[in-house]
Amino acid sequence: MGIKTVGVLGCGLMGAGIAQVCAASGYKTIVREVEDAFLKKGLGRIDKFLAGGVEKGKLTAEEKDRTLGNLSGTTRLEELAGCDLIIEAIIENVEEKATAYRVLDGVVGEHAIFCSNTSSLCITELAAKTRRPDRFAGLHFFNPVPLMKLVEVIRGLTTSDDTYQQVFAFAQSLGKEPITAPDKPGFIVNRLLVPYLLDAIRSYEHGLGTIEDIDKGMKLGTGYPMGPFTLLDFVGLDTTYYIANIMFEEYREPAYAPPPLLKRMVLAGRLGKKSGQGFYKY
Ligand code: 3HC
Repeated sequence: MGIKTVGVLGCGLMGAGIAQVCAASGYKTIVREVEDAFLKKGLGRIDKFLAGGVEKGKLTAEEKDRTLGNLSGTTRLEELAGCDLIIEAIIENVEEKATAYRVLDGVVGEHAIFCSNTSSLCITELAAKTRRPDRFAGLHFFNPVPLMKLVEVIRGLTTSDDTYQQVFAFAQSLGKEPITAPDKPGFIVNRLLVPYLLDAIRSYEHGLGTIEDIDKGMKLGTGYPMGPFTLLDFVGLDTTYYIANIMFEEYREPAYAPPPLLKRMVLAGRLGKKSGQGFYKY
């Protein structure tokens, strides 16, 4: 059975972006948040992004309306009953995710596939929390979701060939460029990106240069769109710290160990752009 209706769990930064690209690609999309206020905020973010796109001449007002017409929000998991694909983008906590999967397993059709947008948790472990471990895969988007072309498709130990192929084709149908990544912490991109970001912090701690100069060096010297500190603030220092800890726990290699400054900035609430201060002030 083909995928026509998509349920997205979570309407935060990633969930809202995922719901937007699904709706824009013609899928009936239902996004679920735990509270009305979060839902309103997330849907507002989508509206704003689409309005910005119209202003920039990237899409027409009709395309914006069509996307919004494909999109609805709810606070009830039960309203996702008719979905063919669930993409979960909630808090990075195995038990929270397992609780949502448990409810959905009871209401969503047998044929439906579950995906998680987790950036670091084990796909095989999450799959084992459902009654459909063969119809479970990782589908990892990048921030900002509507602009970043890449999606990582992750096969857990139990993911069936059919599920993998359907999820890969679905990612392509969103206009994304999928790659296949292993079920190991960091998958492909964060496995390489996170040690680089951690190394930038460590180098700064050791007096390599100012934050501005390191950023400028990497941006203008290598063509990266953002220097490492701008990117750290953009991704969120808490998110980076969390991913680094999971990677360090699994690989036990110093490259993944979060540097002391990162931990202290998280403890101080300097989380980056979202908190108003990280390595820069906003
Ligand atoms: N609708 C449609 N298009 C839009 C838009 C909108 N609302 N807003 C911007 N765009 C388009 C612009 O028109 C532009 O298109 P063009 O290239 O054809 O002219 C393009 O998007 C870029 O937008 P801007 O020019 O406004 O902004 P920048 O050029 O500064 O790019 C950026 C912004 C895409 C965020 C870029 O800085 C970038 O790629 N940064 C790195 C982001 C990154 O590395 N993300 C991954 C983080 S890691 C992650 O997510 C994994 C997780 O697990 C941690």
